Amino acid sequence: MVKNIAVMASGGGSNFENLAVKSDFLNMKIKVLIIDSPEIYAAERAERLKIPCRIVNRQDFKSKREFEAGIMSALADFEIDYIVLAGFMRILSADFINCYENKIINLHPSLLPAFKGKNGIEDAFNYGVKVTGVTVHFVDAGIDTGKIIDQTAVIIEDGDTLATLEEKIHQTEYELYPAALKKVFDGRV
Ligand code: GAR
Repeated sequence: MVKNIAVMASGGGSNFENLAVKSDFLNMKIKVLIIDSPEIYAAERAERLKIPCRIVNRQDFKSKREFEAGIMSALADFEIDYIVLAGFMRILSADFINCYENKIINLHPSLLPAFKGKNGIEDAFNYGVKVTGVTVHFVDAGIDTGKIIDQTAVIIEDGDTLATLEEKIHQTEYELYPAALKKVFDGRV
């Protein structure tokens, strides 16, 4: 059965577009892109891909609770099987997560449990580790702590700069995220 997906993003949206392009292979349909601020590039990608985009602007809400109610109300217009986070840079509350238990999936640019948080690539680079990577995991109430679905290691070589590492991480994400989602949709995790 085709899985209906909501993608949530806060930035450029390259992973969103990569998933959209691979939708048929994944037997999924992205019903909506939800973004948390206006004028981010992901919205332009959605327009080009003819995927509905809803802006739930964090600045329009007094509290996180109301903001999340806004997300839920946007989601309620669609029949969604999974929420796929693709560069969504906000921490969701336990209340929100409990409403979608094991239905929210996140992409994180490090080999968890190392380098949790907002700057996974830079933190790994600055620490000087020689191996970092990409993780796809279910979202639980902790920060980047949910059950791991899949991971790929990325070697940091002597000549690498932050920019070359970012590029390697993104290329790895474009392979890993679709493969990990396929595992979930096929019931292999
Ligand atoms: C990706 O590298 C993703 O792993 C990261 O944001 C980037 C989004 O890129 N997510 C996190 O750091 C979540 N903590 P994109 O907007 O081009 O897809």
